Amino acid sequence: MPYVIGLTGGIGAGKSAAAGMLEELGAAIVDTDVIAHELTRAGGSAVDAIRDEFGAEYIGPDGGLHRARMRLLVFQDSGAKKRLEAILHPLIREQSRARIAAAARPYVVVVVPLLLETGAYSDLTDRILVVDSTEEQQVERVARRSGLTEDDVRAIMAAQLPRALRLSRADDVLTNDGGMEDLRDQVRRLHSKYLEMARRDRGMRASPDKKLKKYE
Ligand SMILES: Nc1ncnc2c1ncn2[C@@H]1O[C@H](COP(=O)(O)OP(=O)(O)OP(=O)(O)O)[C@@H](O)[C@H]1O
Ligand SMILES: [Mg+2]
Repeated sequence: MPYVIGLTGGIGAGKSAAAGMLEELGAAIVDTDVIAHELTRAGGSAVDAIRDEFGAEYIGPDGGLHRARMRLLVFQDSGAKKRLEAILHPLIREQSRARIAAAARPYVVVVVPLLLETGAYSDLTDRILVVDSTEEQQVERVARRSGLTEDDVRAIMAAQLPRALRLSRADDVLTNDGGMEDLRDQVRRLHSKYLEMARRDRGMRASPDKKLKKYE
């Protein structure tokens, strides 16, 4: 397996922005939101299971998940939310694992919004990178992007790990409280560090006896 960074952060903190910059520099990106979308669109491998579990009314005319209807259901019914997650989460994790294994870049960044909340990725990741910004910035950026109200965004934030706890679990932090150029500078430094870590990791795997010698 390649060297793997797990990237997380609260809603609107800048995960996608940071991942895009790392990708430009040469990292492979595995994005669990993208995978979730692919699994549930027409022909996706979660569609049959969703139809079996929830009924054909949750499949749209195009043959993919009826997103608006499902969103409403899981918002009102936490049992339904759990049943949907029981279908999706194992598939998303398996797809992530497969894409990580197939990546042909010096290292891989797997973007998992609820990385620390689920714990399901801990055996796939070598390091945890948290993208952090203030709650005010999260609210402002998400509201500007999606038209959600401040209350909507705060409700989502309340269901995620508190900021301080998330930060305490990070190996690396990108402090995204300035402009995009500030973020880019931090990302560049981090990328150099990750290249070096990935290089060392490959070295240890290529000659495992070196690792052993340390303990002899
Ligand atoms: N430093 C910044 N300055 C200005 N705008 C920013 C900055 N970082 C991110 N944004 C903008 O804020 C919005 C949220 O950022 P982004 O989509 O990267 O966050 P995210 O953590 O991926 O969000 P989500 O949890 O919804 O996936 C985007 O529109 C993005 O362009
Ligand atoms: Mg995102």
